Amino acid sequence: MKKITMLLAVMLLSANTFAEEQVVLRFSHVVKKGAPKDLVIEKFKSLVEKYSEGRVKVENYADSALFGDRDEMKAVIEGRVDMIAPSLSKTDQLYKEKSSNPYLVLDVPFLFESPDLVKKLAGNPVLDEMAATVDKKEVKIVGVWDNGLKQLSINNKVESLADLKEKRIRVQPSAVLKATIKSWGSVPRELSYAEVYNGLLYQTLDGAENPISNLYSSRFHDVQKYLYMTNHGYLGYAWIANKKSWDGLSPENKAAVEKAAVETNKLQSDIAATANEYAKQDVNGSGMTRVLEPSAELIKEMKSKVPAAEAVLSPVQKEFYAKLKATLK
Ligand code: LMR
Repeated sequence: MKKITMLLAVMLLSANTFAEEQVVLRFSHVVKKGAPKDLVIEKFKSLVEKYSEGRVKVENYADSALFGDRDEMKAVIEGRVDMIAPSLSKTDQLYKEKSSNPYLVLDVPFLFESPDLVKKLAGNPVLDEMAATVDKKEVKIVGVWDNGLKQLSINNKVESLADLKEKRIRVQPSAVLKATIKSWGSVPRELSYAEVYNGLLYQTLDGAENPISNLYSSRFHDVQKYLYMTNHGYLGYAWIANKKSWDGLSPENKAAVEKAAVETNKLQSDIAATANEYAKQDVNGSGMTRVLEPSAELIKEMKSKVPAAEAVLSPVQKEFYAKLKATLK
């Protein structure tokens, strides 16, 4: 009898030990498998599982399968998911007042004169200052990832802003993006990312603005006639973790996750840049979209409207805007 009791105790202990060691971090996002953000999360997943020697597992839920645009932020604040990486344009819920949200300054058009200047965000101290302003103390900002510059996809030829008059263009929920689209004479249509494809397919939308990697991975090139490489805006992500989940890790597991996070933050920009390069080659010749260079007139007119987007910034946001711009020369 004693032998059986001993055996049961050993089995129970080992099961508990295993159960204690197997930690699962659920990471939810809204883009398709293979989009840059998804690839970066997969990289984080592999690094966490390597550095924790399998004790910590990352489950990557793509394409709004677990939570979408409308509920992912609430879910990570309440701890119903461990990590998300929403676009900086979708971070107002981290603040008591939207006017305090410094991340929106990255929505001002033509913040980056060229795609390679995006690299100046890596390790940028102004982004650390922004992270320190978050009101919601239930979360922590683990990093900022980029997905390059946004391009304009549309179903009509565009030579100048006159050709965008009254066009319904999908935007993310950002006051700066809405002001930008309005300044073009177009109509901003706020939709979640998961709703964009059908909006374009059933033509309740005329166009959208996305990095070419998102356009390609979500197959928007099947439902848009033209893609103008305007490089007019930036798409970045706030990597957000639930603090209780993060702080609840054992010291050994937290060290492994932190090591993986530092390495992921260093690698993310190159992963995104490569994915955008490949997408540009793949879009041309596939689907229905023709990739075109914008006219000098269109870019000149779009740049002339930047003050309309700057005008919606609050005093706090204007301060961050000036500080960040000074680092992007
Ligand atoms: C969008 O809604 O267009 C983007 O934020 C989607 C994404 O997460 O890249």
